[in-house]
Parts: sequence; structure tokens; C-alpha cells
Amino acid sequence: MSQSSNGVDSENQEPLKPFRIQLAERVQKLPQYVLAKVNALLHSKRKAGEDVIDLGMGNPSEPPHPMVIEKLAEAAHDPNNHGYSKANGIQNLRREVAGKYFKKFGVRLDPDTEVITTIGSKEGFSHMILATMGAGETAIIPAPYFPAHMYAIVMASGNVIALDVSDSEKFLKNVAYTCEQLYPKPKLLVVNYPHNPSSLTVEPEFYVDVVKIAKKYGLMVISDFAYADVAFDGYQPPSFLAAPGAKDVGVEFTTMSKGYNMAGWRVGFCCGNPEMVKALGIIKGYYDYGLFQAIQIASIVALRHTDAAVEAQSKLYQARRDIVLEGLRKQGWQVETPRAGMFVWAKYPEPWASQMSSVDFAMKLLEEANVAASPGTGFGPAGEGFLRMALVENENRLRQAIRQMGRVLDRGTKSSPEKQLS
Ligand SMILES: Cc1ncc(COP(=O)(O)O)c(C=O)c1O
Repeated sequence: MSQSSNGVDSENQEPLKPFRIQLAERVQKLPQYVLAKVNALLHSKRKAGEDVIDLGMGNPSEPPHPMVIEKLAEAAHDPNNHGYSKANGIQNLRREVAGKYFKKFGVRLDPDTEVITTIGSKEGFSHMILATMGAGETAIIPAPYFPAHMYAIVMASGNVIALDVSDSEKFLKNVAYTCEQLYPKPKLLVVNYPHNPSSLTVEPEFYVDVVKIAKKYGLMVISDFAYADVAFDGYQPPSFLAAPGAKDVGVEFTTMSKGYNMAGWRVGFCCGNPEMVKALGIIKGYYDYGLFQAIQIASIVALRHTDAAVEAQSKLYQARRDIVLEGLRKQGWQVETPRAGMFVWAKYPEPWASQMSSVDFAMKLLEEANVAASPGTGFGPAGEGFLRMALVENENRLRQAIRQMGRVLDRGTKSSPEKQLS
């Protein structure tokens, strides 16, 4: 068919039908990323020259250790590092990861069959869902949830049951109850401690029970252990893989993004059950060619030589945590003390809590206090009434954020809330 520029078919002079892009249903059923609304306002404020304190995203504020950057530069100068690398990750990196698991958690892993590198843990998680979940099958995830936990399953045409994560014992009871009641039974359980967004943590016994339940009900397990390296007050987040029998039922994802300040480098790992690791490798083989080799080489240096810097980074987050907690509590916010992770998850105070959604409240703080935080419902309906603040600005900026928020809340309680909340 030949087209003319006036919207008419030049051969038969009939009007051309307007072309319609028909996207897949899986795209249409994804909600707008909740942070988008807050981000749009944040960007327009910054464009207008306003100084916004951004506690929205868990994006590390510090660079990686200089030794790691130097190794990256050196490896980038080596002509041998620019081709396609091993899709599953170079063996020395997989060995380093296995070594780290043994040193830190006493977990023995075969680097060839039980470790695979991923392009950040988010990519690995999403593709593991494709490897394990079929259309119409059901997975259990924690609520509130990290959006990828929910939407990787939705995109794989799976069903999701999101269970309240706030009490870990109750969470497991509800998992067992769901497995008893539901037919067909759920196939997969996602656990995520330290938890994003709530920063809740567990003790090693929790995973002993997870393995028992998984075996009893035939559930595969994925542990998202993204915050393995960020912990406070001497607490060590336990690994799921350290529980007896864990490798029979599941895998665990870790990342260089958080503790090593390498979020933009996109380096993650999936370790554990060899069948699941292999299946992830097969899926990834069709989607990608793995990571830039220079990044993998520099990651080995990070894992081998920068433990002290990772610890120092946790101390930095701990000091920031204390500033935020003290400030918020003085203003009447209800907030638990997190033992790990990069976030403070806080119930905002009255009269706002009963009259304003978390999105509206986050928008108010951004508009009036120039502080960006993530509204709780960005993590599903269970997050209503909460805000998540990432500890990614320095101590002075955090104090400033608390002061600016305090002024806005003060104004709100002194005048009619109705007027303020309209
Ligand atoms: C719970 C959780 N899992 C996974 C990720 C993604 O990490 P990565 O940078 O390794 O993809 C994040 C990042 O915010 C997270 O909070």
C-alpha cells in the first residue's frame, strides 16, 4: 500500500486508518509507579532552582571504595575485557561470593552450580520468577511489598497473595494457613528481611521455620537479602541459606548495590538450589549476555578487600538513623528503631494520619517543606498511613529536613486541620 502525506492512500484514494500501537496487556495492567507523582514534583522544583532534600529512593549517597574504582579503570584498559563475558558470571567472582557466604554465614556453596551473577538483584529476581512461575500459579509475598516482588509475578501472569509482614511469627502462620486453604496450593514464597520498606528484621530461627513450612507444603522459596550488609547496633541479618535444608527448597539474592555503594554498577547474585540457579541461567541466556567483565573484576576486589568500608557505611547509616528517629519522635511520629536497612518507616502523626493519604501527605511535605519521601502506598495498600525515608542525605541535611518538616506540621496543628488538609 502506498501512502501519501495527506492521510489518503495514493493508489485508491481511500482515507488511511490511523495506526494504533497495541501494547500487551501485561504493560497495561501495571500501575503507574507511585513514586512518579512525587518525582515529577521533585524534578519541577529542582528545575525551578529549589533545594529539595530527597529521601525518596534508596540510592546510596557515597561512592564505592577508591580501590574498587581503580580496579574498574584498570580492567577497562585491558582489551581482553570488552567482549561478551560469561553469562553466568566469571568463575573467580562466583568463587568469591561462595567464599563470602562461608566466611559470613558458614554456608557452603558450589560456585559452579549454586552461584550465578545477575544484573543487580532486581533483574535476577524478575527472571527467577519467569523461571519458576507459570500463568495462573500463586506466589506469597510480604505486605507491604517492594514493587518488583508484586509486579514481576503479575508480569509472569501469576497470582499474588500479599501477607502482613509486621509480625514474622504471624506471617509464617498465615503462610501455612494459606497453603492449607488454597487449592491449587501456592507454589512460591518470597521472604525479604531486612524488609523494604519497613526495615523489619528476623533471627536465624525464622528461616528454620521457613524451610519446615516450605518442605511441608511443597513451596519454593526466594529470599531477597538486598540489605544483608547494612545493619546497626551489632545486629547481623541472618541468611536464609544458613538454615538446615534451605538449599533443598530455595535461593537467596544478594547485591553490591547497598553495602558496597555500587547501585549503578548493577551487580547481584543468586545462590542456593542448583536447579533454580540453573533455570535462572537458562532464562537469562535468552535475555542477556551478563555483566561487563571489568565490573565483575572490580566486584571481586570489593568483596575481598573492603569489609571495613562496608562496616563504616553501616555506621554512617546508623548515625543518620538516630538523627531522624530523634527528630521525628519529638514531632509525634510513631516509629520503630530499625536494626538494618537504609530506611526509616514511620507512621505520620495526627491529625494528618486520619485525614490524609500517604500520597497526599508526601506531596504536602514536598510542596511545603521541600522534603521528598516515599508514600507508604507505593508499597501497596498495607503501607497506608506511613512514609518511608531513605537515609541517603548527610547528617546536616537530615537535620534540616526534620526542621523543615517540623515547621509545616506546626503550622498545620495551629490552624484548622480542615483548612490545611483541603
Ligand atoms: C528489597 C529489595 N530488593 C532488591 C532491590 C534491588 O537491588 P539491586 O540494585 O541489586 O537490583 C532493592 C533496591 O532497592 C530492594 O530494596
